[in-house]
Amino acid sequence: MGVGIAHVFLAAGCRVKLIEADPDRVIAAQQRVVASMERSSAKGTLTEAVGEALRRLVVGTELSVLGDCQLVIEAVPEDIALKLAVIVDIEESVPETAVLATNTSSMSIAQLAQSLRHPNRFAGLHFFNPVPVSVLVEVIAGPESDAATIAACRSWVEVIAKTAVVVQDAPGFASSRLGVLLAIEAIRMLQDGVASAEDIDKAMTLGYRHPMGPLRLTDLVGLDVRLAIAEYLTSNLGPRFAPPALLRDMVAAGKLGRKSGEGFFMYQHSLKDGT
Ligand SMILES: NC(=O)c1ccc[n+]([C@@H]2O[C@H](COP(=O)([O-])OP(=O)(O)OC[C@H]3O[C@@H](n4cnc5c(N)ncnc54)[C@H](O)[C@@H]3O)[C@@H](O)[C@H]2O)c1
Repeated sequence: MGVGIAHVFLAAGCRVKLIEADPDRVIAAQQRVVASMERSSAKGTLTEAVGEALRRLVVGTELSVLGDCQLVIEAVPEDIALKLAVIVDIEESVPETAVLATNTSSMSIAQLAQSLRHPNRFAGLHFFNPVPVSVLVEVIAGPESDAATIAACRSWVEVIAKTAVVVQDAPGFASSRLGVLLAIEAIRMLQDGVASAEDIDKAMTLGYRHPMGPLRLTDLVGLDVRLAIAEYLTSNLGPRFAPPALLRDMVAAGKLGRKSGEGFFMYQHSLKDGT
C-alpha cells in the first residue's frame, strides 16, 4: 500500500518520502514505485515522464527526513502494537503543523492516537488496492481529530483526484466492515464445499455486478491482511467476523494471495518482485 500511496502523490506533483524500516527492502520499495509508475505511463495516465516524477521521490530508512512533510501516512502491517510504536515515532520526527494519518483498514483511530501528544492532528486515510486506479479514500475522524485535520485530509484526497467519504471512528469503518464480512463468508462457503472459488466469485461478479469476486479481492488485498482485520473485528464487534479455519490454514502455509503467487487462485508472478 505504501508503494501505491507514494505513486499517487508523485503523480499529483507532490514531493514524497517513502520510509522502509528494513534497509534490505529499500531498493525493492524504490523498484516497485518505478514499476508501478511505468505501468501507469504505459497506459497514458501520467501527465509527465516517469523520470521527472521520480525526481521528487526519496526512499530511505530514517524518519528524521520527514522534518519538512505536511502529511505523513503510516502504512505498516495491521498490528496494533506495531502501529502504536511507529505512529509515536513519526510524531517525534515531524513538525507540529503536519497532519498524521494511518492507512489502517480497521483499527480505532482513538486507540491509535492514545500515545500522541497532539491527537487532534491525527486521522485515518484509508486507501484501496490498487491505489493508482481506486477512486475512493475513506477519511476517518477520531474523537479527537479536529475539524482542520479532517478538512486537510479532504484536501489531500482532492489533490490526488480521488473521492473522499468521511466516516466516524468505528471498527472497520464503512468499507472493511462490509467487505471483510462478505469475504469471510465466501471463504466459509469454499471451506464447506458450497461451490468452487471461481463459481463463488462468479456469483458476485455476474449476479451482483461486483467488479471483482470476494475471493479474488482477498487475494489482491493479501490473506494475511484480511486475517488480521477479521481478528481485530472479531474482538471488537463479535464472532460474526471470526476468521474461518481455511483462512488461518492458508496464511500459515504462506498462501497470501497475489503477493506470494498463490491464494484462492494462482498467479504467475509475485507482486513482491514488482512484476
Ligand atoms: N493490502 C490492502 O489491500 C490494504 C488496503 C487498505 C489498507 N491496508 C492497510 O495498509 C497497511 C499495510 O498493509 P499492506 O497490505 O501494504 O502490508 P504489507 O505487508 O504489504 O506492507 C507493509 C509494509 O510495512 C513494512 N513493515 C513490516 N514490518 C515492519 C516493522 N516492524 N516496522 C516498520 N515497517 C514494517 C514492510 O516492509 C512493508 O513495507 C495495513 O494497515 C493494512 O490493513 C491494506
